[in-house]
Amino acid sequence: MNPIKHVAIIMDGNGRWGIIKKKSRNYGHKQGLKTVEKIIKESLKKKIKFLTLYAFSTENWKRPKNEINYLFTLLDNFLSNKIKQLNKEKIRFFVLGKKKFNKKLNDLLNYSEKLTSSNKRLQINLALNYGSKSEIISAITNLKKKKLKINESNITNNLYTKNIPDPDILIRTGNRKRLSNFLLWQLAYSEIFFEKKLWPDFNEKDYNKILNIFKKTKRNYGKI
Ligand code: FPP
Repeated sequence: MNPIKHVAIIMDGNGRWGIIKKKSRNYGHKQGLKTVEKIIKESLKKKIKFLTLYAFSTENWKRPKNEINYLFTLLDNFLSNKIKQLNKEKIRFFVLGKKKFNKKLNDLLNYSEKLTSSNKRLQINLALNYGSKSEIISAITNLKKKKLKINESNITNNLYTKNIPDPDILIRTGNRKRLSNFLLWQLAYSEIFFEKKLWPDFNEKDYNKILNIFKKTKRNYGKI
């Protein structure tokens, strides 16, 4: 049985879900946040140590202003209301990506990271303003500045994910089979699961089905 330390998720399909329900894309995001809460609870139950969620990519800035603002308001409200509870539950909150938002949100993100920094039960990495190619470029730029060798361990230790084990599992919901500039270095040996359901419809049962398949998968890492 494979142990599961780290699950990464591309939470795709909120917009389409909102439109199918004859509401708005933003309504889909609101519902998507409910799925986030379900999956956090289930990850705690399953004793998973790291949960990485792709919430906003560097490419998502190309979306309409109203959608971008809605997503950040959702995040702001979520953290303002829930960070103390997450802390009580010994959950660590960590941002992957460049924190270049308005001052209020930057402060809230920094506060949430600091408050929860010593928690060890589950670490939630929220990928925000995240792009994997620029993460790799900035790791290599750092190494050059420090006149360090460009090798595998040095690159790994200069990514946002330093000190975080690579994901065992990547899940992408929403019936699309692509990586969308997410953790390209870190996913080298992860097991990838593409899920047809849109993120707001994804539930604990779907999650457990994937975790159970993973547990029985033979991982070779290039060997036989
Ligand atoms: C992708 O769906 C989803 C996003 C870009 C945002 C993810 C946000 C949430 C799940 C809710 C907010 C989360 C937090 C932690 C505050 P899409 O909009 O690209 O869907 P589509 O493919 O149907 O257009």
